[in-house]
Amino acid sequence: MTKLKNDLLLRAAKGENVERIPVWMMRQAGRVLPEYRAVRAKTNNFIEFVKNPELAAEVTIQPVDIFGVDAAIIFSDILVIPEAMGLPYQMVESKGPWFENTIKTKTDIDKLIVCQGDTIDYVNQAISLTKKQLDNRVPLIGFAGAPWTILAYMVEGSGSKTFSKAKKFLYTEPVLAHLLLEKITQSTINYLKGQIAVGADLIQLFDSWAGVLSPQQYGEFALRYIRQICEAITEVPTTVFAKGAFFALEEMSKLPCSALGLDWNTDADWARKQVGPNITLQGNLDPCLLYADFDTIKTETEKMLTEFGTQRYIANLGHGLYPDIEKEKAKFFVETVKGFGV
Ligand code: CP3
Repeated sequence: MTKLKNDLLLRAAKGENVERIPVWMMRQAGRVLPEYRAVRAKTNNFIEFVKNPELAAEVTIQPVDIFGVDAAIIFSDILVIPEAMGLPYQMVESKGPWFENTIKTKTDIDKLIVCQGDTIDYVNQAISLTKKQLDNRVPLIGFAGAPWTILAYMVEGSGSKTFSKAKKFLYTEPVLAHLLLEKITQSTINYLKGQIAVGADLIQLFDSWAGVLSPQQYGEFALRYIRQICEAITEVPTTVFAKGAFFALEEMSKLPCSALGLDWNTDADWARKQVGPNITLQGNLDPCLLYADFDTIKTETEKMLTEFGTQRYIANLGHGLYPDIEKEKAKFFVETVKGFGV
């Protein structure tokens, strides 16, 4: 394996000393970049785009060139897993994902396949191509949705404020829920190992809907499957980002992962006390702060960096960039972190 020219992210994830805080942004590939929209316009829809390794590699690298971030994240989506397991989706313009069929019964679950490492071949091809084109400038992050969040889409069939159908499934069909979560977990482990085999340098799990569950449900239906994935992925560092799961932070610090992502509701000092010194924290600027003026962005970003400290820390937003954030503001956030002395 050739050495990365910039391995700040990997060193920070592993708890090694860094000379500067590494920075990247969730949803940096796409959305705020006119350059992304130009490439997107070459395809008919989002899913076709995701399945095109050449275009996926191109937009994965754009934020490295344009923002100067310390990592690339492969352009894909967490919903490629449900599709590969047998539940196709559509991405409805300005609305979000929509599934024609949802999971209701044991028969529905039995029909799903367990993905192998090469099942979602277009993502592996996109990773291989991106690694080649990145030429070891920065690490490449691979990712997947955490099992609860994937179940939530498979049962709910679309986005939702409450995910009440998915939560109802946990309360009324717990045995089926576990059966489904086991299948998703196995698919995810195989999928992520496939990504690592073709070059992913770090893995992030997105549990975007962690915050709708009670602490008890989160332990039973979410954390134990995240644990299985973290235990299985030993080849590269792993980051777990569970949005809204402040109530589980102490428990999560016992996961065999390298880093925990925090949303903007979480206080830095409080988080560090919950997790102890042996885990890296990632986050957590409110993405909406990037609507503010440049001075405010600088002040608030530096305040965040001071609170988290320079070691065992990766600067990021507390959730993904919103589509209407100005590209120059996102770039300024990255530059502010890179200009902050250690
Ligand atoms: O971070 C990156 O830049 C890499 C690419 C990436 C995308 N989706 C591309 C995308 C990643 C890491 C994701 C993860 C993802 N997808 C999550 C977890 C992170 C989170 O935000 O909590 C979730 C919940 C999804 C599901 C999803 N995909 C939704 C709800 C939507 C529609 C609404 C939205 O947020 O835009 C998508 C579409 C999607 N995924 C877009 C992109 C760039 C927008 C599609 C477009 O270009 O029209």
